Amino acid sequence: MSNREIAEAILSALGGRSNIRACGICATRLRIIVRDMSPVELDTLADIRGILGIFKKGRCGFELVLGPRLVAGVSEAFFELTGIRSSMEELSQFNIPAAQESLSIRINTAKAAEEEIPLSDGFEEDEGDELEELLRAVEGKDSPATSLLVINGPNINMLGIREPDLYGSESYQKLLELCEEAAQDAGFDSCVCMQSNHEGDLIDCIQQAYGIHDAIVINPAAYTHTSVALLDALKAVRIPAVEVHISDVGTREKFRQVSYVREACIATISGHGVEGYREAIELLADHLGI
Ligand code: DQA
Repeated sequence: MSNREIAEAILSALGGRSNIRACGICATRLRIIVRDMSPVELDTLADIRGILGIFKKGRCGFELVLGPRLVAGVSEAFFELTGIRSSMEELSQFNIPAAQESLSIRINTAKAAEEEIPLSDGFEEDEGDELEELLRAVEGKDSPATSLLVINGPNINMLGIREPDLYGSESYQKLLELCEEAAQDAGFDSCVCMQSNHEGDLIDCIQQAYGIHDAIVINPAAYTHTSVALLDALKAVRIPAVEVHISDVGTREKFRQVSYVREACIATISGHGVEGYREAIELLADHLGI
């Protein structure tokens, strides 16, 4: 495949010229910002010869790891095809705030191994180190890295303090540790936890998970019983999600028996205390076949 053909294949997998907002070279990678994620075919992109890995950065950003012999030529061909060549400065405008930054990595180990250039030969020292580190991170895995997002709604940060007879004595910190451990045990490559008391933050977080996270555990807390917007956000991103409640909402007040988000979730776990999060994580791992 020529550089031009690789660039054409990349452009087509990203939804064509009209979907490209910015593109440029960032260190040793081709960075591309798309307008819309829906036409993007990540699997097709990952299968293109020469692409060793894909960093998905932010909601609409990608960095393609192409290997030292290809990165300049393919990027040049891509800039010609799109008529766009963005400077580092322009690209940095699309950086999302650090607090919300998410990163997921897909590395095609099989292709890295079959590349005509061995990793240890022909790479700039830093670049080789970077790729080898990434490859080590996914050692033994043929499938892409999987990332879990755990979302907690209002007052969940008060665990251990708030109504311990209902929600137990474990702290929110302990819950985070439980989720991270359970995610690792279940085979997820990364686990990101967030909590907010604000409905809009929770919606932003679900939207930003698109193209980044593979599964969501969500305890929307009181917004469970009120928020159509959270339901719509979950429906929009179509990421497999499990609804969790620490207390048994089905046996509490009538208003707690209504759940708007349930319709967008593959399961609900309620009344199993904080251990319910572990069950949800295991269920999602099974669902994804990890
Ligand atoms: C909760 C149940 C909700 O009704 C309540 O508003 C919460 C926590 C639970 O985990 O049991 O804040 O979601």
